[in-house]
Amino acid sequence: MQTIITLEELRAARALLPGPAGFVPTMGYLHAGHISLVERARAECASVVASIFVNPAQFGPNEDLAKYPRDLPRDLSLLEAAGVDLVWTPTPEVMYPPGFQTWVTVEGLTAPLEGAQRPGHFRGVTTVVAKLFNAVAPQKAYFGQKDAQQAAVIRRMTRDLDFPIEIVVCPTVREADGLAMSSRNTYLNPQERKAATVLFRALSAAKAAHEQGEREADVLRRIMAETITAEPLARLQYVSCADYDTLEELETVTGKSLLSMAVFVGKTRLIDNFVIG
Ligand code: PAF
Repeated sequence: MQTIITLEELRAARALLPGPAGFVPTMGYLHAGHISLVERARAECASVVASIFVNPAQFGPNEDLAKYPRDLPRDLSLLEAAGVDLVWTPTPEVMYPPGFQTWVTVEGLTAPLEGAQRPGHFRGVTTVVAKLFNAVAPQKAYFGQKDAQQAAVIRRMTRDLDFPIEIVVCPTVREADGLAMSSRNTYLNPQERKAATVLFRALSAAKAAHEQGEREADVLRRIMAETITAEPLARLQYVSCADYDTLEELETVTGKSLLSMAVFVGKTRLIDNFVIG
């Protein structure tokens, strides 16, 4: 496995890889969810490229950029064990050289949910992912369903900007008790870690109600909200029952829909979602 920092070396090494190339972009501090993306890429592609870059542009001023967990040596050994050919670890100066002033923005899809709570977040995500796509030029790129809106936004950007890349979205990987894997789970103390299963419990309750015939989105949102509110260490930011493609809030669940939420457990902000219908 080769580890590369500069764009020039990345381009030179990438040119020597056999196609199709699969790409797994990450912010590091890897867990089983990331490794499942690498394994899928390994199974489907002749070569696999990963990137590790904690992208300052997608963090708000009061968010966790400074304390975002990092462990490069551990990440590199996990990627090597999973069969990655090339890892790109650009510095902020490589990605955003002095004078940088060009941004990629997806409109409607970024307005609700995470976009409403985290102004500028998706502009940072789409800008860095567009730059990563240009540099790595993969045939396929792999993202987790855990960040459902991010996946929808990147799919839209890929189509709108004509990137010749297939976007593959892989299932959320969960701990045994249902908590979705996330690098941010490391912020949780033992009590908060137990309380954090409330997201999975709330989503499961709404899904069960849907399976029993409930079609009113307000009822499903209320079931989720009440489950969260009953957990003393949790504070609900939003719950949503939205159309899977447009992310618009629903009145009635008729087709494929996204149940999603953001919840603070202590000071840690967690998100999770289920697809129903
Ligand atoms: O999902 C992530 O880890 C990041 O948002 C991504 C896609 C690597 C862009 O920085």
